[in-house]
Amino acid sequence: MLALSSITILMVVGGFAAGAATKVSQASFGKTRDGVEVRLFTLTNDRGVEARIANYGGIVVSLKVPDRTGAMADVVLGHDSLAGYLDNPGPYLGALIGRYGNRIGHARFTLDGKQYTLAANNGENTLHGGLRGFDKVVWTPRELPDGGLELTYTSKDGEEGFPGALKVVVSYHLTGANELRIDYTATTDKDTVVNLTNHSYFNLKGAGNGDILDHLVTLNADRFTPVDAGLIPTGELKPVAGTPFDFRKPTAIGARIEQNDEQLKLGRGYDHNWVVNRKGSGLTLAARVEEPASGRVLEVETTEPGVQFYTGNFLDGTIKGKGGKVYNQRYGFCLETQHFPDSPNQPAFPTTVLKPGQQLRSTTVFRFRTSGAAKK
Ligand code: BGC
Repeated sequence: MLALSSITILMVVGGFAAGAATKVSQASFGKTRDGVEVRLFTLTNDRGVEARIANYGGIVVSLKVPDRTGAMADVVLGHDSLAGYLDNPGPYLGALIGRYGNRIGHARFTLDGKQYTLAANNGENTLHGGLRGFDKVVWTPRELPDGGLELTYTSKDGEEGFPGALKVVVSYHLTGANELRIDYTATTDKDTVVNLTNHSYFNLKGAGNGDILDHLVTLNADRFTPVDAGLIPTGELKPVAGTPFDFRKPTAIGARIEQNDEQLKLGRGYDHNWVVNRKGSGLTLAARVEEPASGRVLEVETTEPGVQFYTGNFLDGTIKGKGGKVYNQRYGFCLETQHFPDSPNQPAFPTTVLKPGQQLRSTTVFRFRTSGAAKK
């Protein structure tokens, strides 16, 4: 599928060099309902930035980054214990998503002339891989010598209805430049479809510290994929110009989210795939988000063609997260780098088919910076 360009390789090599001072340690994170022990890995760089990742679901449990004064906050929604994730799988907080990120319409697709039927776990559609997607499995962890964490999972032929045994290797690196870099690879023994992403919910004020409506978002996208009532793309690549989906200039998430717009009504807010403007197949800026009060800035670069900008519309205050804080509607936003939803049924979209002998390679970088001068 995506071949790494020479530019990407240079950046990846740079990332390894920067990540050399990152340390990794691990501890128990409890047991699954089947009694399997889950480990929690802590990656810390030499600036004190820290990412905690569990090998259950590859979940990013916490991510501590500085504001413009140097004060650290945990900027991802999550739970203090494994039990919190097991009890509340609905929002996919922080998890790796597969075999197919986002929706496949009518829970079916045809590949090589054969129809495959999947579990319908979102109305009549399949969402995020089905009933037991990659967010709900225990991955095999390996600490890498450069301070990274590698997670491996082999999904069986026929798992959740998908053809082919699929071997997925995901690595997390925290670099010295305050980047969380995720590299995905996958290989298969039969033709299949794959779409991998991470479902972290960010709040640059700190998880649980209010909503994200005042965050300023820029999306490097001239077009998005409008959806039907089941949130399945209609197939159109619609220009954002003149719509509330135009984030080509920094705009507060809340500035237009309540407008009387059909697409916003269908998503209950933003829950759409934007088509990343790109030249070539290398890492390209997809999004930049700034929280004006703290000065925390998140930049997202990816080799993927799309990004699902989701504003936590389905969070409803029923989940208590880390430190007992309640997650209300729009308390976090996701930037899920991806191929487009429902691509297996949309021949005009970039293909998500992976064949034996090919290797899927995909990289996404979440870079944290700060803006503005420190307040006295
Ligand atoms: C989907 C939303 C869904 C959320 C959590 C997002 O990727 O687009 O519709 O509610 O994940 O499940």
